[in-house]
Amino acid sequence: MIETKKMANKKQFDKQSWKPGNVLAPVPAVLVSCGGNYKWQKNLITIAWTGSICSDPPMLSISIRPERHSYEIIKDTREFVVNVTTEKHAKAVDWCGMVSGRDVNKFERTKLTPMDALKVNCPVVLECLINIECKVQKIIKLGTHNMFLAEVIAVQVSSEFIDNKGKFRLDKSNLLAFGLGEYFKMGPRVGKFGFSVKKKK
Ligand SMILES: Cc1cc2nc3c(=O)[nH]c(=O)nc-3n(C[C@H](O)[C@H](O)[C@H](O)COP(=O)(O)O)c2cc1C
Repeated sequence: MIETKKMANKKQFDKQSWKPGNVLAPVPAVLVSCGGNYKWQKNLITIAWTGSICSDPPMLSISIRPERHSYEIIKDTREFVVNVTTEKHAKAVDWCGMVSGRDVNKFERTKLTPMDALKVNCPVVLECLINIECKVQKIIKLGTHNMFLAEVIAVQVSSEFIDNKGKFRLDKSNLLAFGLGEYFKMGPRVGKFGFSVKKKK
């Protein structure tokens, strides 16, 4: 049978219905640091369920299962740091999501460096591109995970990716992304905010 253009188009847009699930992709796979006081050893947890939720005040959320060691720490200290990762951290990111800080010291084992934060008492990860220091405002019970809504109170970015015009070159940084159970690195830039409506000179 000869395939018509109409048939080819239909194939291109063919869909399958899947059961509702977390298929939103990509999301960042971040390392959240917490602890580091007299009561709690500093710890790292890999988090995929995170996102920006408010511009002013700047806020983000992370969702954590209550049984995680980091959940106890963050619930108690009400602070954490979201450390944005790149391709070279992929193995550490995966590993920190497989083992618990109850059993191992993840900073020592990954050789990632804990560095004093600007405003919170838990450490930032020196090797990560962006460190976002957060104070918890609210904990919302959801289901398997509870959501920490937090205000961003300090940010540090690595000078390594800032060009001579002061621009942060995310396109050069190989940011780590996660989707449908796999890790990816972010690729080249395809546009700029508002480029679709910008008038040609
Ligand atoms: C890619 C990836 C993403 C993850 N995302 C989450 C998440 O969003 N929330 C969560 O509770 N656990 C998440 N986990 C699982 C925790 O990172 C894992 O249970 C970890 O060992 C908990 O460490 P802790 O006991 O030291 O807190 C993720 C794991 C991986 C590998």
